[in-house]
Amino acid sequence: MADLLERADIQGIILSGYVHLPWSAFMLLTIDPAHAGGARRWLGAIADAITTAEGKEDASSVNLALTATGLANLGLDRTALDSFAIPFTDGMNSPLRSRILGDATGDTGPEQWRWGGPHNPVDVLLMLYADSDRNRDALVARIRAEIAASGALAECALLDAGLYPDRNEHFGFADGVGQPAIDGTGHAKRAHAANVVNPGEFLFGYENEYGYAAEAPALGPKRDLGKNGSYLVFRHTTQDVAGFWQFLDRQSRTPDGREDPVARERLGAKFVGRWKSGAPLALAPDADDPNLGATDAFGYAENDAHGFGCPLGAHARRANPRDALLTDKPAESLKRTARHRIMRRGRSYGPRIADPLVPDGQERGLHFMCLCANIARQFEFVQQTWINNPVFGELGVEVDPLVGAQSDAAVMTLQQTPVRRRITGVPSFVRLVGGAYFFVPGVSALRWLATLG
Ligand code: HEM
Repeated sequence: MADLLERADIQGIILSGYVHLPWSAFMLLTIDPAHAGGARRWLGAIADAITTAEGKEDASSVNLALTATGLANLGLDRTALDSFAIPFTDGMNSPLRSRILGDATGDTGPEQWRWGGPHNPVDVLLMLYADSDRNRDALVARIRAEIAASGALAECALLDAGLYPDRNEHFGFADGVGQPAIDGTGHAKRAHAANVVNPGEFLFGYENEYGYAAEAPALGPKRDLGKNGSYLVFRHTTQDVAGFWQFLDRQSRTPDGREDPVARERLGAKFVGRWKSGAPLALAPDADDPNLGATDAFGYAENDAHGFGCPLGAHARRANPRDALLTDKPAESLKRTARHRIMRRGRSYGPRIADPLVPDGQERGLHFMCLCANIARQFEFVQQTWINNPVFGELGVEVDPLVGAQSDAAVMTLQQTPVRRRITGVPSFVRLVGGAYFFVPGVSALRWLATLG
C-alpha cells in the first residue's frame, strides 16, 4: 500500500515515539470555562508549534491532546461532543470504565488519583520532547509563560519522563519492542508482515482492519475535520521494583534456600514474556539472547504453542497473543489479533533503582501511553479480555502477572513438563495513580477548535 497519510495534518506522536528526543515532560492543564475565548486564542497560537508527522524536528517536539471536558470547556457543543466514542466521553474515571478496566475503586480508585479523577479532571495534555534537559526545560518555561499570558489555563501537573539510555522500563526489561506498523509507512516496509496493520486502527478516517474507514468525530462544517485524529490512553503508574524482584527471588531460591540469580532472572522473563534484552521467550526459551533483542518477527503457534518457553499467561503474550489466540488456527488468530493492536508510546519516570532487591523509598514508574482509533475495541479489550481475564488461554484463575488486577488468589502458571508449576500469592507490582482518555486532533481540527465561540 502506498503512503496515503495526510502527514502535514497528523500529530507526530501517532507515527513516532520520538526516540531521538529522549527528554520529555507531560504537562496537564485545566481550562477555565469562564475564559474559553482566551483558551481558544492560546490553542490557535500553539497550533503553529505542533510537530506533525511530516519531517522530523531535531531539537524538540510539541504535541497536544484534549479530554472530553477539555473540548466542552473550549466551547464545543453537545452534538459535536456526542459524536465521539462513548468510552472517551464517559472518561477513564467513570465507574463503568473502572469496572471494564479492572481499576480499583474505593481507597485506591479514581477518587484517590493524583490527577484525572472525578475531583481533579484535566482538560489538556501537552507532550513535550527534547534532545537535552536544557532544551526540555526551555520549552517548558516558554509554554508556561504562554499559559500564564492566556489567563485562561492552569497547570495541574508537570510529569517528568525520559527514555533511559538502555531503553528499559524500571523492572529492567527492554520496552517498546512489540509494536504494530502502519501499512504504507516506512516502518511497515521493515516490519514482519504479521505486525502490519491498516492505518484506520490508529487514525480516524482511514481504512481499518474491518475494511471500513475508522469512525471520526463530526467536527467542523465538514465532517472531514475529525480525520487524522486518534485517541490516546494515558495511565500514570508506579512500579514496585524491589517488590517485584524480591518476590521473584523468594520463588527462585534453591531447595536449601540459597539465592539463584539465573533462575530469578528466568522467572522474571517468564512473567514478562521477553528477556531483559527484549529477546522473546518463544524464540529463546532457556536463556537471554541479546542478538534477538529487537526482534518482533515471531509467532507463538509455530514456536511455542504449549507455552513451555513463553508461558500462556505472560504479560506480552496476553497483551498480544499473535498467531496463537485460537488453537491450531494461526492465520485466523492473526486476523483477529490485528483488530486489537495498540501503538505504545509510554515513557518511564523516576530514578533507576541501585539494587533491584533493596527498596530505596523512591518513586518510579511508567507513564503508559497508547494510541488507538477505537478505545473499546483496542485498549479496553486488551485490558479486559486478555490482561485481566482469568480464563484467558484456558488458564482458569489467573490474570496478567505484571500489570493485572490481582486478587488474594493470585496465581501465575508456568507450563512445563512433566508437570506445570504454579506460583501463588503474586502481589500487585504496578499501581495506577492517575489517567485519562484523550483525543489527539489533526492540526486543522485544532485550528478549527480555536475558532469556536
Ligand atoms: C507499568 C506497566 C507496564 C509495564 C512495566 C510493561 C512492560 C512491558 C514489557 C517489558 C514488555 C515487553 C517488551 C515489549 O514488547 O515492549 C511489554 C509488552 C507489551 N505490553 Fe506492557 N507493560 C505495562 C503495562 C501495559 C498495559 C497496561 C498494556 C495494555 C493494556 C500493555 C500492553 C503491552 C503490549 C501490547 C505489549 C507488546 C506485546 C507484543 O506485541 O508482543 N502493557 N510491556
